[in-house]
Amino acid sequence: MNLRQQQQKVFDESGENLVVGSEQHCPVEPSILADITEDSPLVVSVIRSGLTAEVFHLRIDGKDYNLKKRRQVAKVANLDGQYSFLNEVQRRNDLQQLKEQSETAPRLTHIVPTIYANYRLGIILSPWIEGEHISEVTPDLIQQLFTTLLACEEHGLMEWDLCSGNLLVDQHQQLWLFDFGYMYSFNPKKDFNSNGIADPLFHMVERFETRFFFGWLLKQDHSLTEQLELYRTLKQMGVDVYQQKVAWLKVHQAKATVINHFESLIETWQRALACDDELRHLFQLESFRSHVLDIEDDIDGQSCTELTLQRISLVLDVLRSDFDYLKERGGLFYANKGKSQQALIEQYEQKRELAQKYQLR
Ligand SMILES: Nc1ncnc2c1ncn2[C@@H]1O[C@H](COP(=O)(O)OP(=O)(O)OP(=O)(O)O)[C@@H](O)[C@H]1O
Ligand SMILES: [Mg+2]
Repeated sequence: MNLRQQQQKVFDESGENLVVGSEQHCPVEPSILADITEDSPLVVSVIRSGLTAEVFHLRIDGKDYNLKKRRQVAKVANLDGQYSFLNEVQRRNDLQQLKEQSETAPRLTHIVPTIYANYRLGIILSPWIEGEHISEVTPDLIQQLFTTLLACEEHGLMEWDLCSGNLLVDQHQQLWLFDFGYMYSFNPKKDFNSNGIADPLFHMVERFETRFFFGWLLKQDHSLTEQLELYRTLKQMGVDVYQQKVAWLKVHQAKATVINHFESLIETWQRALACDDELRHLFQLESFRSHVLDIEDDIDGQSCTELTLQRISLVLDVLRSDFDYLKERGGLFYANKGKSQQALIEQYEQKRELAQKYQLR
C-alpha cells in the first residue's frame, strides 16, 4: 500500500464524512438522491459503464443533472479502484475550491462543477453536459485539454485516466473533464508525477497518448502520412505546454531534476519536429510505449477487447522489425528491459493468448 492508499483507508474506516458544496444547492434532498434507482421518475437514463459507480442522467424541474452513485460493491479488485470513489470526492473538493476562487477559476473552466457531493451518502451531483465522448483530435481540443491539465498540475493534481470515456465534447466544441477517480496529488516542484520520481515515463502528454490517442489511431482508417500529421500536431502542442510548464517550474524554483526532465522531453520532441525521419522514429517508439502500457492494464484488469489484440499485434511487429532500435532508445522498460528479442516475442505471444482468454463479452 502506498501512502495515499493508506491515508484513504484510514479516512474510509474513520467514518468521517467529506461533503462538497452545500445542501441548499441540491434540487432535492441529498438522501433522495442517494436512494435513486433507475425506476425513479427523475431519471432520464442510466449509464452503467462504471466499475465503482452508476451514473444517472436526471431531470428535475426542467434542469438536467448528472448523478454519480457509488456502487455498494466495487467491481474492481485493486486498491486504486476501491478507493476511486473516495478519491473522486476528494479531488472534487480540491477542484471546486479552486473553481470558486476568482484567481484560480479562469483556467479551470473545462472542469465540470460539483453542485454537491457527499462521500458517506455515496453521491456526486454535477450539471449534465450534453455532449459526446471525444472522437476527433483537433488542435483546439488538445489545446483545451493540455492547458487545463497544466493548470491542475500547477495546483498539484495529476490526471491519469484520460480515456475517451472521460473526455466529453459539447455542441460548442468545448471539452469537459469530470471523472477524477484516478486524479492524484503530487508536488509539481519536486516530483515528476504522483509516483514521485520513481516513474519518469508517466506525464500528462504521455497519459493522453497512452489512454486515448494511440488506441484511437488504431481504430481509424488513416494512412501513415495522416497519422504522422496528427502526431506532429500533438507533439507541437506538447512542446508548447511543457515550455509553459518549465517556465512555471523556474519561476517557482522547482528542483533541477524536474526542470531537466521536462526540458529533455521538449528537446526530444523538437528534434523530431525538425526532421521527418526522427518524427517517424519517435512515433514508433512512443506508440510502442503506449501500447505496451495499455496491454498491461487490460491484462491486469482481465478486461481485454479487440483493441488489446490489435495492440499486441503491433507490439509484436515492432519487436520483430525494430528490436535494436527499441533497445537503444529506451523502448524496453520495466519487465521488458534486458530481455532478448526472442524472449520478448514469446512473451507477447503468450500475452495474446491471455488477451484472448480475457475478452470482455
Ligand atoms: N456531467 C456529465 N454530463 C454528462 N455526461 C456525463 C457527466 N459525467 C459523466 N457523464 C457520462 O457518464 C459516463 C460515466 O461517468 P464517469 O466517467 O464519471 O464514471 P465511470 O467511469 O463510469 O465510473 P468509474 O469511475 O467507476 O469507472 C461518462 O463516460 C459520460 O459519458
Ligand atoms: Mg470514467
